[in-house]
Order: sequence, then structure tokens, then C-alpha cells
Amino acid sequence: MSPRRRVSALLPDFPWDTIASVKAKAAAHPDGIVDLSVGTPVDPVDPLIRAALSSVADVPGYPTTHGTPELRAAAVDALKRRYGITGLDPAAVLPVIGTKELIAGLPRLLGLGADDLVVIPEVAYPTYEVGALLAGTKVVRADGLTQLGPQSPALIYVNSPSNPTGKVLGVEHLRKVVQFARERGAVVASDECYLGLAWSVSSGRSAGSAPGGAVSILDPEVCDGDHTGLLAVHSLSKTSNLASYRAGFVVGDAELVAELLEVRKHSGMMVPFPIQAAMTAALGDDAHEAVQRERYRARREVLRKALQGAGFRIDHSEAGLYLWSTRGEPCRTTLEWLAERGILAAPGDFYGPGAGEYVRIALTASDERIEAAAQRLA
Ligand SMILES: Cc1ncc(COP(=O)(O)O)c(C=O)c1O
Repeated sequence: MSPRRRVSALLPDFPWDTIASVKAKAAAHPDGIVDLSVGTPVDPVDPLIRAALSSVADVPGYPTTHGTPELRAAAVDALKRRYGITGLDPAAVLPVIGTKELIAGLPRLLGLGADDLVVIPEVAYPTYEVGALLAGTKVVRADGLTQLGPQSPALIYVNSPSNPTGKVLGVEHLRKVVQFARERGAVVASDECYLGLAWSVSSGRSAGSAPGGAVSILDPEVCDGDHTGLLAVHSLSKTSNLASYRAGFVVGDAELVAELLEVRKHSGMMVPFPIQAAMTAALGDDAHEAVQRERYRARREVLRKALQGAGFRIDHSEAGLYLWSTRGEPCRTTLEWLAERGILAAPGDFYGPGAGEYVRIALTASDERIEAAAQRLA
């Protein structure tokens, strides 16, 4: 028998383990830690969503992988209402158990392997690379597609608004990605986790259609209404505070979604039925999203001023849940400086080799903790 191959050996060390000592230092602050290292929601789940969840808590049967017709219809309606995405068929919506699992599995689900190339942003959410490594594909970090030369990638990730930088890609940039992908036969996976959290730009068409706003890859202005080869990945974790529920969906090219559905059906990748009901309620209601957005907007203002007052420069960060901040020094030095004040941030080097002088500071803490951070920075 051949020796057992460790899949984890394909993967980098789990990055969060590397900030354990700095976390301990921040936790030793007499007034407690202000943990701004992770983008995890802290505000309660809206009562409307909780009621939907518990209303079906007695249902015993298996859920379907494709989700209920009500959930898929609610997703299509929400995308149209919130972001101006038209022409979607509810059959082309597929619920996922949080989008991280989809992203980590996508290259494999699409049948990619050693001969294939996956393109990820230069500074990126780490799971794009993880998914490629698990499938054994080649990976390249590139923001400009001209960097690829004659190569024909199989899968291109875009993430606008970006984690960690908060950068928003405009319509023209996204149009070029779509055109390039079509010429070379690539799939575009657009991670739109933060599309509903835009600050100095508009979000989709609903907020007034300002040029330069944060738009979906499926926006008619980006793809001319043709969803071929395009997948948009939407999470309810941040906009609806549903990270604990594990709730997201992928939507776009009907043929690609049908293929993902087929494989996921066999693999038992089903979103639990009560979560599907909760998602349906969340997607049907914009009021709770607006309330949450305003909470983050206020926290962002407090933190932004405090960081700038303390000599930080904040780049990008037009949207999303993070302030991409630098003191022009190695990020681990900045991390220590913050930890001495009881504040924990995420080091830029988690996100790519070009981000070593940045720290990512999340807006996801209570008003009281954000205020404490501001005072400590003053
Ligand atoms: C860019 C990006 N994509 C996807 C995810 C995963 O979100 P979830 O699995 O909660 O849907 C996150 C979470 O932080 C993220 O920042």
C-alpha cells in the first residue's frame, strides 16, 4: 500500500496561527481586546430572519440541493431590486453552505486540474488560492490581464469590492475581463460578497446608478445581458449578518450552474431547510440590510478618522468591511504597535506578497469596541 498522501500538505500554513502571540498581547490590555482582525458580524440576526428560520424548525425531510423555488425566486428578485441585474432565470440560482465552501471547491467542481490555470487577484481572499491548490491547478496572481501574455486561463476570479483592499472595479474594467474571458474560453467567477456595502461609490443601480459604482459581473452594462461563462457568488454573511447560518448562493450561466448542481447533488452539498427559509426572508427584505449598512458606515467614520489621526494612510476602502491601512512599515511591526494598544488587525501578508506594508482593519466590532479603539489610537 502506498503511504497516505496528506492533502493538507498541499496548502499553506493556516495564516491565523501566525498572529497568536500578537493576539495574546492585545488581549492583555486592561480594558480588553478590540479584535478587528476578522470580518465576522457582531450585530444580531434580524427578527424577521429568525422567525423564518424557526417557522420550519419542525420539518423533518431532506432539503433539495437546488433550494426551494421560493428561495431561488427571492434571490432573482433581490439581485434585480438591489443591483439592477436582469434576465436571470431562477433555475440558474444555486444555494451554497456559505460561499467559502463553494470557492474552495469550485476549481474541482468545474473539473479543473494540473493543466489548467486559475487567475486570482494580486492581493486576494486566501480561499481562491486554496481552491486552486486543492484541485492541483496552476495559479497566477494578476490584476491586469495583459500580464497573462498568451496564456489561456480556465478560471478567472474577480472580487469587487475587494477583500482586503476595498477596491472597486468599474464597469469598463469588468467589461474587459468578460471580453478577455470569452476570447480565451475562461469562466469568470465574480465574488460579490461586499457588493451591498459601498461607501464612497454607489452599490449597483439601486443607489442611483452613479458611474464608477460597485457593479455585478452580471450587470447588463458589464455583460450586455449575456451570462455565458459568468458566475456571481453572493454571500448573506456580511450584508444580512448570517455568517453563523452559512448562507450564500451562486448564480449566472445556466449551463454552468446546472453542472455545479449535478455534482453537488451527488455530493450531498445541501443548504439545511431552515436556513433556506431564513435566506428567503433575508433576500425578500431590504430594510434590515440598510440598517446594518448604516451601522457599518458610522463605525467606518469613527475608525477612519482615528486611524488617520494616528498617522495611518488608508488606501482604496471605497466599499466593503475593511480599512486597508498602512504606516509605511512592515505590517508585522504595525500589528505589534496596534497590539500594544489592545487592538488586533490582520496583517497584509495574509493576502499576497505585494501587501506586506498594510494591515486590514475590520469594521465588525460593536459601537462600544470601535469607540474604545478610537480612544486608544488618539
Ligand atoms: C471575499 C470573500 N469571499 C467569500 C467569503 C466567505 O463568506 P461566507 O463563506 O461566509 O459566505 C468572505 C468572507 O470573509 C470574503 O471576504
